[in-house]
Amino acid sequence: MNSPTLQGLNLRAPDYVKNPRLLAWVADMAALCKPAAIHWCDGSDEEYRRLCQVLVDAGVFVKLNQAKRPDSFLACSDPSDVARVEDRTYICSEKKENAGPTNNWMAPAEMRALLQTGQADGKPALFDGCMKGRTMYVVPFSMGPLGSHISHIGVELSDSAYVAVNMKIMTRMGRAVYDVMGEKGSFVPCVHTVGAPLQAGQADVKWPCNKTKYIVHYPETQEIWSYGSGYGGNALLGKKCFALRIASNMGRDQGWLAEHMLILGVTNPAGKKYHIAAAFPSACGKTNFSMLVPPEGFPGWKVTTIGDDIAWIKPHADGRLYAINPEAGYFGVAPGTNSHTNPNCMASLNRDVIFTNVALTDDGDVWWEGLSEAPAHCIDWQGKDWTPAIAAANAVDGKPKPAAHPNSRFTVAATNNPVLDRDWDNANGVAIDAFIFGGRRSTTVPLVTQARNWMEGVYMAATMGSETTAAMVGAQGVVRRDPFAMLPFCGYNMADYFQHWLDMEHKLESLGHTLPKIFCVNWFRKGADGKFVWPGYGENMRALKWMIDCIEGQAKGEDNLFGISPTYEEINWSGLDFTREQFDTVSHMDPAAWQHELALHGELFQQLAHHLPTELTDTRERMLKRLAG
Ligand code: OXD
Ligand code: MN
Repeated sequence: MNSPTLQGLNLRAPDYVKNPRLLAWVADMAALCKPAAIHWCDGSDEEYRRLCQVLVDAGVFVKLNQAKRPDSFLACSDPSDVARVEDRTYICSEKKENAGPTNNWMAPAEMRALLQTGQADGKPALFDGCMKGRTMYVVPFSMGPLGSHISHIGVELSDSAYVAVNMKIMTRMGRAVYDVMGEKGSFVPCVHTVGAPLQAGQADVKWPCNKTKYIVHYPETQEIWSYGSGYGGNALLGKKCFALRIASNMGRDQGWLAEHMLILGVTNPAGKKYHIAAAFPSACGKTNFSMLVPPEGFPGWKVTTIGDDIAWIKPHADGRLYAINPEAGYFGVAPGTNSHTNPNCMASLNRDVIFTNVALTDDGDVWWEGLSEAPAHCIDWQGKDWTPAIAAANAVDGKPKPAAHPNSRFTVAATNNPVLDRDWDNANGVAIDAFIFGGRRSTTVPLVTQARNWMEGVYMAATMGSETTAAMVGAQGVVRRDPFAMLPFCGYNMADYFQHWLDMEHKLESLGHTLPKIFCVNWFRKGADGKFVWPGYGENMRALKWMIDCIEGQAKGEDNLFGISPTYEEINWSGLDFTREQFDTVSHMDPAAWQHELALHGELFQQLAHHLPTELTDTRERMLKRLAG
């Protein structure tokens, strides 16, 4: 049980923390990590303000101009700690094949020796004393509405106050979680350290981190251990680590889905509402799509946001899939966000925002590439003077040096969003009418295609490719297969995950309701001049409306290799000058390009061959035959 002190460290928890397993775990972790103090977060606004002030005093946060951006802050990270580190992310399942060929794996015992218990050669464990000189924040959080049957609880121990305040925005964090947990409730234990212990008298740096990084998941025991990074998905452990990697394991075992999907509501002028869940890889516009403003030509249509990044989806006895957004805030990509691309997001960012790695303007506000005309001068994300001339003089590959890091972010509460759906916090979730899968492809994949059946939809999602973005460390713009936009997030064997999706069809059919329709979209086709042809953003409503027409049985489309795509006439073009030729450029399916594409699907299937459902290889065979004529 909870001992009150440990080598002078006060372990006493607030009276409302009554869960013996939690108390024992915190004591064990304190003994391992050896922090100088423990702070039990209560999640109050007063605590948030106090911790923000601690971060300002430590030089981590700059408080922005109160008149322009009330109660908002800017943090700039170490240049080596700017994105998720996929090559340092591990799924430590007991058996290697359960992690599958697309995940890094290490045997749990080996990883525990490295992180927790120390190695045979006498090298100390990385977590041993990792929090020396720092405060350990105990952050209780609920992924999903408090007490919902779809939600799950986690507790993150972190030596970063930046993490604690971000978790307050991104999750339902605080005292009420302990009430839900009670004395016997379970939680997912998440331990996070920046991996930079402080010796007595040593001054801290602004963004402590370690060049050694480990983002580790133990699926069988449902634990998360994160070492060495303070950034985003590496450190805010409720997000990718819990809500996707651990939750996908829970979903496989318990018969539900944890997905890298936004959830939106779309209401037609007659007041009929549909709910859509859409998967796109990181930094491909999920936040923009979830907050879409219908363009001219769509009077009376409304889009409302339930979530912008993650969906937990459970089958219900009525035969429908119900989805919740496990998060409570948005950790969105700043560059490119502006009043044209996402006016609702811009309105969300008016106050109470934490910005990370954007530029600081001379009047104490923020700026990023694509926000507005470049300022004459600002301080870039690395704290250096930035002017358009400096940017041009330091261009890399012909691109001016950016003032904001390409993966710079904003953290903001969902409740700031002017188009937040009234059901966003509904404990029962919303019934899903359709799934959309979309990658970033400058060629090959048409604007919008409806799968003819569930199997074909799973095939589309499983074989999705996308050009890589700045959200992960590594080369950008390279096409890689990103099945279901889950490549970096599926916490088990990807081929088993495909089977789990295929099994869902039979489960739902046995419950007797029509299955959600499945669509594939691509907003990113480029013309011969290398420019995007499709205007995107609010104009995506035109493709969305066609999808609704399909759900309502009002659009027939044209049958092709891949599924059913709209004719030019079936799209509402009112208010947009988009020619038949342009439509052809974004919809055309080139047989040679598809030969190549199917060869790439074949490579993916080979990689996953060991557990791959034969339905997928059969579908590919059928497509090859059809292509051959
Ligand atoms: C994110 C990501 O932060 O996908 O949502 O990288
Ligand atoms: Mn994401």
